[in-house]
Order: sequence, then structure tokens, then C-alpha cells
Amino acid sequence: MALDGVLLFGAAGQLGHELASRLPVLGPVTALTRQDIDLSNPTALRSLLQAQRPAVIVNAAAYTAVDKAEQEPALAQAINATAPAVMAEEAARSGAVLVHYSTDYVFNGQATRPYLESDPTDPQSVYGLTKRDGEQAVLHSGARCLLFRSSWVVGAHGQNFLKTMLRLAQERDTLRVVADQVGVPTSAAWMADTTVLALQQGLNGLFHLTPDGQTNWHAYAQYVLQQAQSLGWTLKATPEQVQAITTADYPLPAPRPAYSMLDSSLLAKALNLELPPWQDGVDSVLRALRAA
Ligand SMILES: NC(=O)c1ccc[n+]([C@@H]2O[C@H](COP(=O)([O-])OP(=O)(O)OC[C@H]3O[C@@H](n4cnc5c(N)ncnc54)[C@H](OP(=O)(O)O)[C@@H]3O)[C@@H](O)[C@H]2O)c1
Repeated sequence: MALDGVLLFGAAGQLGHELASRLPVLGPVTALTRQDIDLSNPTALRSLLQAQRPAVIVNAAAYTAVDKAEQEPALAQAINATAPAVMAEEAARSGAVLVHYSTDYVFNGQATRPYLESDPTDPQSVYGLTKRDGEQAVLHSGARCLLFRSSWVVGAHGQNFLKTMLRLAQERDTLRVVADQVGVPTSAAWMADTTVLALQQGLNGLFHLTPDGQTNWHAYAQYVLQQAQSLGWTLKATPEQVQAITTADYPLPAPRPAYSMLDSSLLAKALNLELPPWQDGVDSVLRALRAA
């Protein structure tokens, strides 16, 4: 039986939502959420893949609750490592292309220059470990695959730091945000656009997928509030009322990488793409939220 169409997992997530509206340019799309298939059940996943026989599998699903993962390592492993391993095995068997996503958390965050695809991984959290195991399974499966590592994903749909800052700034007079973790916000819409482009161009392999520039959580929060004000939001906490704190001031169950910058020049070159400034994606999300 011939392979047909695109099968998307995680269609209700930030990235999955953006992919669901863009993937149809490649063919008929079956977009699945947790209600359709529980990815912690590898037997059900394998049966579904063998019955559906998609030409392209896009896995935007993940266990992304970074702190909760410290308490639920087996569930995080099942969703972030075993499920992509099953997808990769089935893709290798059928000849399908597998698109999978990973994270800056596979690194230890101690670098002094942006991480390259070839740099050794050294995850420090359960989430990072499980995502690293997922990467390894996909890369060593023999399947035709596109594996994208990204960071600080932000979209109009779903939960993220930008939405939390907007909500808190409407509820409180002051906010305290860590200033000693460096990274770059990546728009889910841009990730989805770039995924489609990469599939259209037949790209294979591991690529970092982040826009241009860098920031820290504190400066990012200030930027979000500045832009929100100019778009007409009424805020109790203005950008000046966002206090800079350190990671040590805000202890969390899972350690965060201090330095999360990924070098995306390999992808930019492969697709002949100019990486947009990260602010473009954030501005679009804010405009979409304001319009809604
Ligand atoms: N968020 C970030 O800052 C970030 C940073 C770097 C890389 N990434 C990676 O980028 C990709 C997309 O992330 P995202 O921010 O779009 O994640 P997200 O918004 O948390 O979406 C993940 C989706 O996976 C689904 N899911 C979780 N457990 C499942 C299960 N057992 N069965 C089926 N579906 C399940 C969730 O379903 P429910 O809606 O029902 O929970 C959710 O819709 C992931 O691979 C993530 O690791 C994310």
C-alpha cells in the first residue's frame, strides 16, 4: 500500500497548532491531539502508524512540563523518548519522513558561544535527558528525518512565558524575573513556516532552529510589556517595574541552562534563509493576542 499524506502529532500544542494550518500545502493532513492518541502507549502508536501509513510524520507533541518531569521521569521518557523512537522505527520501515523537535535543554548551558549541532549534549534535567534520548533514537533509526532543536517557544495558542508575563502584569504592581539566563524566544509560527520550507526542499538531518539575536528572561519580559502597552494593553506593572533577579533567587525543581543560545547558521545556509530578529515573532504573537 502506498504512503499517503501527513500525520501530525501534538496538534493542540503551541507549535502543533501552527503546523496544522500550514502543513496542508504538502498534502492531506491528519492532525491528532492527546484525545486521539495517547503517546505514552507505544503499542497503540505503532498500530496507528501501521494502519495509517503516512508519507510524512510530524511530531510536535512532547512532555514539556519541565519541573513536573522531575517527579514523573517514566512518563516524560515514554512521551519524549519512547514515542519518537517508535515513530522513527516505523518511518525507517515504511520509508516515511519523520520531523521531530528538540530543545536547548539537551545542553548543559555552560557554553560561551552559541551551541552547534555537533556540540556534545549534556542534559541537566529529566526533561533534557528524555528529549536527548528522543533525539538519539530518531537520529540512529535509519529513518529519513528532520530534527530541529529550538528554544523559548512562543505562540498565540497555548501556554508560554509571554502570556504569563502579560497576565501577571495585569494582576500585580511589580514582577521579579531572572536576568542571568540567556537565550532567544522562537516563534512557533516561524518554526512551522520553516518546517514546511525544509520539507519542500527535501532537507534531512539535525538543525538548530532559532531566530536572530539574544536576550534574557528579564529583558524579554520588559520588551513584552513595552510592546503590549504600545498595542493598548492597560498594565499594572510597567516595564520599569520588572525587577531583575538571579536564578538563585528563584529556585525551581529542574535546573535551567544559564546559556541557551543555539547557532542556526547551518539551517539558514541550507535553506538560503535570513534568520529574522526574534522580536518579529514576539510582535506577531502580541498582535494576534490583541486582535483576539
Ligand atoms: N515550549 C518551549 O519553550 C520549547 C523550547 C524548546 C523546544 N521545545 C520543543 O518544541 C516542541 C513543541 O513544543 P510546544 O511548546 O509546542 O509544546 P506544547 O505547547 O506543550 O505542546 C505539546 C503537545 O503535546 C501533547 N502531549 C503531551 N503529552 C501527550 C501524550 N501523552 N499523548 C499525546 N499528546 C501529548 C500536549 O497535549 P495537551 O495539550 O493535551 O497537553 C500538547 O498539545 C516540543 O518537542 C518541545 O520539546 C519547546
